[in-house]
Amino acid sequence: MLDDSRNDPPPLPPKPAVRRGKVSIWKYFRLFKQDILSAQPAHLYRAWMAEMRTPFFRSYLCNDPELVELVLRGRPRDFPKSERVRVGLKPLLGNSVFISNGKTWEHQRRIIDPAFEGGRLRQVFPAMWDSGVAAVARLRSMADGSPLEIEAQTSHLAMDVIFRTLFSVPIENEIAAAAFAAFRAHQNAQPVANISAILPLPHWFPRFHSRKTRATAKTIRSLISQLTTERALAIAAGNAPDDLATKIMTTPDPETGAVFDNEEMTDQVAIFFLAGHETSAAAMAWALYLLALYPDWQERLAKEAEVAFDPDKIYFSTLSRLKDARAVFREAMRLYPPVPMFVREAACPETFRNRAVKRGAQVILSPWHLHRHTRLWERPDEFDPERFETENGKECLRKAYIPFSAGARVCPGSAFAMAEGTLLLSMLVRAFRFERIKGREPMPVAHLTVRAANGIYLRLSPRKASFATKEVER
Ligand code: HEM
Repeated sequence: MLDDSRNDPPPLPPKPAVRRGKVSIWKYFRLFKQDILSAQPAHLYRAWMAEMRTPFFRSYLCNDPELVELVLRGRPRDFPKSERVRVGLKPLLGNSVFISNGKTWEHQRRIIDPAFEGGRLRQVFPAMWDSGVAAVARLRSMADGSPLEIEAQTSHLAMDVIFRTLFSVPIENEIAAAAFAAFRAHQNAQPVANISAILPLPHWFPRFHSRKTRATAKTIRSLISQLTTERALAIAAGNAPDDLATKIMTTPDPETGAVFDNEEMTDQVAIFFLAGHETSAAAMAWALYLLALYPDWQERLAKEAEVAFDPDKIYFSTLSRLKDARAVFREAMRLYPPVPMFVREAACPETFRNRAVKRGAQVILSPWHLHRHTRLWERPDEFDPERFETENGKECLRKAYIPFSAGARVCPGSAFAMAEGTLLLSMLVRAFRFERIKGREPMPVAHLTVRAANGIYLRLSPRKASFATKEVER
């Protein structure tokens, strides 16, 4: 039975409580392991910089836009990824672009970046569309008004997008399904190891990868290796599909002429699977929840999609007509940035806001705090997709909005993810009405990405027939 929550004024989007008072370093570690967000004190929402001193390390959380600019765009080489991040993720990611530094990283980006350039989006668009069609078909049987956990659905959808765009296979493919299952097992097996990757523990602190973590990482890598080996054979035989994997595997480094070998490609595919699916899934789930919380916006998006999607054929240019959907997706990632914090290390002594920062200190960039900073954003905790049209919104977009990071190490999948989120949100709200369930509001918690503590439950009911008959321009 549907409740009458639509008559109540909408509350602010949920935000975790802050930590009250000072705590010992060990208590802080314990809180941090449970949830990065609620372990933090309130003043981080208004501080320009916060220094944390412990007997083992110093860390500096930087909200000052000038510092963010310096670390990410100004002198990124002086703020490499920290060794701690590498150690935590190595069993799964090997030496992937996400954790490499220096010359290796530069070589990897020179090969990867061309695959995600603007023009390539047009080529992957039909595969994204096919994922949306499949998701609408899948959800139809669940759209009966009973509570549905939506994060699991967006996770399935985002992984399907990755498989279709990278390897031209849907998630139902045998290897793809096995890899998705192994990813889920891996995430369950190693949440603590994930946290220790970004937890500012001293260098000597032992980092365990449980046997299960190592086993799931090995399974995932061996499944990926099967995909890349098959693809290498298809490339050699001249019958490989024109997708992202083929593009990456056939692009030589313009400086050295080298292409990725199988091991290097496995490292990269592992990060595409991890970074490309967890993040997009979280962003889409929060966006759908916000649309359920603000039904006027949901109706706006449904109408926009109705007008934008041509009845017979779908074109890449349709994307540019989904302006409201794009604004909603952008605002959802402001309020719930999928990657809440990331860490760099000072490679040399620095001075931040007149304070000496020693070599080796941790430099933390926190989209979570920056995006809700009370001295930068007007009404930071409110949902307002139109804010980016205002002077304040435009200024903050330049200085204080970093869901994809920025500068040299910006997410290479950012344009891909924006297209994916915009398109799929539109397809979903055109097909279904999403309603929130009173008393079951989600509470954000962050481990590696910002998820809901107990899932995001919504009720779905059908609006429109499926997209199955539409043709997409290929
Ligand atoms: C909403 C979706 C996404 C969000 C919010 C997101 C966010 C981010 C952020 C914040 C970083 C930088 C992390 C750091 O510096 O520690 C990053 C890096 C990265 N992302 Fe994404 N990402 C998304 C989707 C994707 C997709 C779809 C792909 C590829 C298929 C991708 C591939 C990568 C890779 C390879 C890196 C490492 C880049 C480097 O270090 O040079 N991401 N992403």
